[in-house]
Amino acid sequence: MNLCIIGAGHVGLVSAGCFARMGNKVVCVDSDLEKIKLLESGRTPIYEPGLSELLEEVVGNGALEFSGDLDSAVKSSEVVFVAVGTPAKEDGTADLSYVEGVACQIAGAMDSYKIIIEKSTVPVQTGEWIKRTLSLNLPSGIDFDVASNPEFLREGTAIEDFMKPDRVVIGVESKRAEDILTKLYEPLNAEILITDIKSAEIIKHASNCFLAMKISYINAVANVCELSGADIELVSAGVGMDKIIRPDFLKAGIGYGGSCLPKDVSAFIAIAGELGYDFELLKAVEEINRQQQEKAVRKLKEMLWIIKDKTIAVWGLSFKPETDDMRDAPSIKIINALQEEGARIRAYDPAAVESSRKVLQNIEYAADPYEAAAGANAVLLLTEWKEFKNVDLAKLKGLMASPVIVDARNLLNPADAKKAGFEYSSIGRKMPE
Ligand code: UDX
Repeated sequence: MNLCIIGAGHVGLVSAGCFARMGNKVVCVDSDLEKIKLLESGRTPIYEPGLSELLEEVVGNGALEFSGDLDSAVKSSEVVFVAVGTPAKEDGTADLSYVEGVACQIAGAMDSYKIIIEKSTVPVQTGEWIKRTLSLNLPSGIDFDVASNPEFLREGTAIEDFMKPDRVVIGVESKRAEDILTKLYEPLNAEILITDIKSAEIIKHASNCFLAMKISYINAVANVCELSGADIELVSAGVGMDKIIRPDFLKAGIGYGGSCLPKDVSAFIAIAGELGYDFELLKAVEEINRQQQEKAVRKLKEMLWIIKDKTIAVWGLSFKPETDDMRDAPSIKIINALQEEGARIRAYDPAAVESSRKVLQNIEYAADPYEAAAGANAVLLLTEWKEFKNVDLAKLKGLMASPVIVDARNLLNPADAKKAGFEYSSIGRKMPE
């Protein structure tokens, strides 16, 4: 099939590469011509394992091309995916101006039947607005369908998530659209759920909010563990062994960040509110997440007393490992709070230094975890990158001004840290006697 994917962000690029590998002819369009130039030169603007290799392969065999020309890309495709950004506005609602702008441009370019598919995460009823926008701007007589096909791609494993999905959700209003999209996904051999458009839109928000709820829930339980002397790792293991609950997303820490969960929780609260439902449960999820980030700062204060003029070695900046993404990373609020108290921050992250420069100021960057910790008063571990797990604790202690570790992701072994002579604090875990 001939596909056009509008938006060369994380979702757009991964989808474009994967659809091309599945045997389609894909044009990926973006209005940012610098980005298109970069992609055409064989470079990838984001870090996602396997993505550079995938793009090289499908560009090389002619299955994928990049373009800044939306008009001709739409004209040459029957299937048009919209994967543009839907950032959160101040009030938590999703900013749909890019989606609307693209819908108008698509209408201007259409000369034959097309199916226009929302791939970006959007609030329920956006499909109706897209349909209306197209109808208002299209010359009469041109037929089209609108569909919703939400992505469920986790950063770091996005290609695998695309190629081996738990489910493919297709929200449609016509048999024609259903047939096109079912055929498109046939090579994946995945379970396909056909729904109406609104239900597909809500499936995406409801799924991500459920994940956020699981994380806030386990963080709340971690607080009770801490207060009672129980151990959250054992509690999570025991709870997750229930086949219905499952062990995923039961890791206590400093809460969820990233480009999806924070934005989707506030957008779902907002759209529910607009529709007349006060989603109190999700408001609590958000509040617990906020408190969890404060907790990292509080723990550091409990260990160091005064933060002013102390050097804190921050290990990990990205919102999770295997990505350079700093969007809504908990590290941002935590580092800002420490800097407000007068701390000096020396940070190390294996991938996110460049992206963090855009959102954090006055940070000294180190080349490795030991360099970050040299002469520091404490290590604050904020992202559970694998390389921190294997750190040489004896060497680390020898380098630091005082042997303090706040492990806000429960990555290190408390007994090992104690044995190495560290004052060690983590989230909801029982400390060895
Ligand atoms: C998420 C969804 O998982 C994916 O389905 C959706 O399409 C996009 O949003 P992503 O943002 O890549 O994916 O990250 P995810 O792996 O879900 O992690 C989100 C945040 O939750 C991270 O900050 C992570 O550190 C945190 N998290 C996750 C926990 O704190 N504990 C856990 O047990 C799991």
